[in-house]
Amino acid sequence: MSGAPAPHTAPAGPVGPVAWPSALQPKVAEALSHYPNRRSAVLPLLWIAQREWGWLPPEVLRLVARTVELPDAEVFGVATFYTMFNLKPVGKYHLQVCMTLSCSLMGADRLFQHLSGRLGIGHGETTPDGRFTLRRVECLAACGGGPCLQVNEEKFHENLDEAAVDRLLERLP
Ligand code: FES
Repeated sequence: MSGAPAPHTAPAGPVGPVAWPSALQPKVAEALSHYPNRRSAVLPLLWIAQREWGWLPPEVLRLVARTVELPDAEVFGVATFYTMFNLKPVGKYHLQVCMTLSCSLMGADRLFQHLSGRLGIGHGETTPDGRFTLRRVECLAACGGGPCLQVNEEKFHENLDEAAVDRLLERLP
């Protein structure tokens, strides 16, 4: 008999140095249940992990790999391909400026430089107080409203200029 976990269940015990917290195990099991094989759940599990830990350190990527029964390298490859996955800790506000063509033509580089100068950080960096992380990202699927900025997972701001982005930062609690 193999020691592999049953389909659609999260491994119960620790896997390496981290394990799924017991409160998350139903969520992991549910994500696995949506697919005919475990490997197909890699993206939802990376999201669950990132929401739990805030970012995806190597031991968490290995936990996901064990859970979906993929080699570590494949899960590392997926996590490094998508800019939405954080491979380093991020600040309270994760500012992601789209640099793809439509936004670029509408001034994304100017906007990024303005944010970088105002916050004193470059791409992938976090302010010393842990409040802001700034990143250049690829298309955010709001191409008609460039230049656009995503703040954390859920907030999109379009048609920005320097003054609008200043107002936006000032409104953040
Ligand atoms: Fe910026 Fe698509 S090019 S959202």
